[in-house]
Amino acid sequence: MRKPVIAGNWKMHKTVSNALGFVKELKEIQLPSDVETVLCAPFLALPAMVEETRETGIGIGAQNAHYEEQGAFTGEISMPMLQEVGVSYVIIGHSERRTYYNETDESVNKKTKAAHAHGFTPIVCVGEVLEEREKGQTGEVVTSQVKAAFQGLSSQEMKKTIIAYEPVWAIGTGKASTAQDAEEVCSLIRKTVAGLFDQSVADEVRIQYGGSVKPENIASFMEQPDIDGALVGGASLKPDSFAALVKAAS
Ligand code: G3H
Repeated sequence: MRKPVIAGNWKMHKTVSNALGFVKELKEIQLPSDVETVLCAPFLALPAMVEETRETGIGIGAQNAHYEEQGAFTGEISMPMLQEVGVSYVIIGHSERRTYYNETDESVNKKTKAAHAHGFTPIVCVGEVLEEREKGQTGEVVTSQVKAAFQGLSSQEMKKTIIAYEPVWAIGTGKASTAQDAEEVCSLIRKTVAGLFDQSVADEVRIQYGGSVKPENIASFMEQPDIDGALVGGASLKPDSFAALVKAAS
C-alpha cells in the first residue's frame, strides 16, 4: 500500500564531479521501479544531478532549506531556489542540524510548511539522543517532535510528508537500533499522526528508519509493518552499496 522509499543523505560529502560520477555509475545498475529512490546531495551538486537523473526515476533532494522565500540570511538557500533547479525532496530537521545549527521544533515546522508550499516532499527527521533513550524518554521526545513538526499542516500535506525516525545514538556509529525497537517507535509515530489527523492519513504516511542502515541489516527493518524505508548516510556514498539497499527494499 505504501511505496517503500530509500533516501541517501550524503551530508557534506562529494564535490560536483564526485556526485556526477556516482550518478553515472548508479545509472548502469538496474534499480527496481517499486522503490522510490532519492539522493540528497550538497547544494552545489543538485543542478547537475537533476539533469543527469532525468527519465531515470531517481529523485533528487536537498539536505536543508530556509523557510523564508528570500531575504537577509547570509549563506542560506531558499525553497524557490531549489524549486527552480528541479529538486523534489528536502530533508528537514536532521539531528546534525538540530545539534550544530540550532534547528528547533519551531523552525522544523516552518520549513515543513514552506516545503509543501513549494511542492517539495519533505523528509522530516525526529529521534531521541542517547541520554533520553537511557532515561526511558524516547516515546515522549519523539511524540513531542512529531506534534510540533506537523502542527498546522493540511491532511494532504501530511500524507505527502515522509518522516524519518533516526535515533541520534545510532547515526554514524555502526550501532543500529534493533528492528523491533525501531518498529516500536515508528508505530508510535504513526499513532501520533493518527491522533493529529486521522487514521487514513496515518495509514498513508511513510516512515523511514535511519541510523547505521547497511545492505546487511536493511531487510530486518523493511520487514516491520510501520517501517517503509530508510534514510541512509554512510552506506549511500558508494553506488553498489546504495543500489543494494534499494534492491533490498523491493
Ligand atoms: O541521514 C542519515 C542518517 O543520519 C544516518 O546516517 O547511515 O551514516 O548512520 P548513517
